[in-house]
Amino acid sequence: MELNSGEYAKFREYLRMSCGIELGDNKQYLVTSRMRKLLISNKIDDFSELIKKLQASCSSTLKQEVLDAMTTNETSWFRDGYPYDFLEKQFFPQWQQDNLTKPARIWSAACSTGQEPYSISMILSEINRLAVPSRRVSANIIATDVSQSVLTAAKNGLFDQFSVMRGLTPDHLNRYFLAQENESWQINQDLRSSIDFRLLNLQNDFSNLGQFDLIFCRNVLIYFSAELKKDILCRIRRLLQPGGLLFLGSSESITGAEEFFELTSCHPGLAFRAK
Ligand SMILES: C[S@@+](CC[C@H](N)C(=O)[O-])C[C@H]1O[C@@H](n2cnc3c(N)ncnc32)[C@H](O)[C@@H]1O
Repeated sequence: MELNSGEYAKFREYLRMSCGIELGDNKQYLVTSRMRKLLISNKIDDFSELIKKLQASCSSTLKQEVLDAMTTNETSWFRDGYPYDFLEKQFFPQWQQDNLTKPARIWSAACSTGQEPYSISMILSEINRLAVPSRRVSANIIATDVSQSVLTAAKNGLFDQFSVMRGLTPDHLNRYFLAQENESWQINQDLRSSIDFRLLNLQNDFSNLGQFDLIFCRNVLIYFSAELKKDILCRIRRLLQPGGLLFLGSSESITGAEEFFELTSCHPGLAFRAK
């Protein structure tokens, strides 16, 4: 199904307005390949009809399906290593010393299918498994995403063989997962219930989430305009507790939002502290 330049311009604008994602020039192939199944299953003949339906705001299900299809959900367990090393070797040990009585508040701001918040929760479980009962720490982990389909997958905690091979050790699998039929694995109930998954569009106000000690906003701002990225970083800064840290993706920077954060090394890797 082809997409002419007028239809592409309208679709691009729709996506930018609905979730902030900026499609580059000449990405028609991406739209046609990601939208083909949706058009067929909704019996929509062409992109003109789709755009009319989206603009007429007749179906929120259709809008959600478009977001699900157009978001890039690439993720893996303990992605890039260093944020999780920091949690294990610095953040939680420090928390055990300073704040044992209160839970740490951690937000995974674009959690995709859950590998990021579950990795955080596994680190916490490991710390507590090795600690005497009086030294155990707790955390409130909130995980959000704009895509309902990845959130549903994250909540179910079911992962195929390919996904579990991306960053999990055999020890993690044995300790935190139950083997299912069809070579899939389900993360255990304790870990599933340790995370509060919520639908949230980072374009919208998120100030009601409360204050956080750590925010993971990794590998999502790259899809937005410089203006939207700056706006989100400015609002994220307001949610960080004094001394709280933000982790971006390993190849992301705060360019354009230097006034809000200072760089801090977390040995190895970088994090950002609110100014
Ligand atoms: C590449 S994944 C990153 C997942 C994880 N943070 C990581 O680094 O492995 C990007 C995620 O951002 C989500 N996303 C895209 N636009 C968003 C928006 N406006 N608000 C919230 N999440 C969004 C997508 O649905 C997708 O799951």
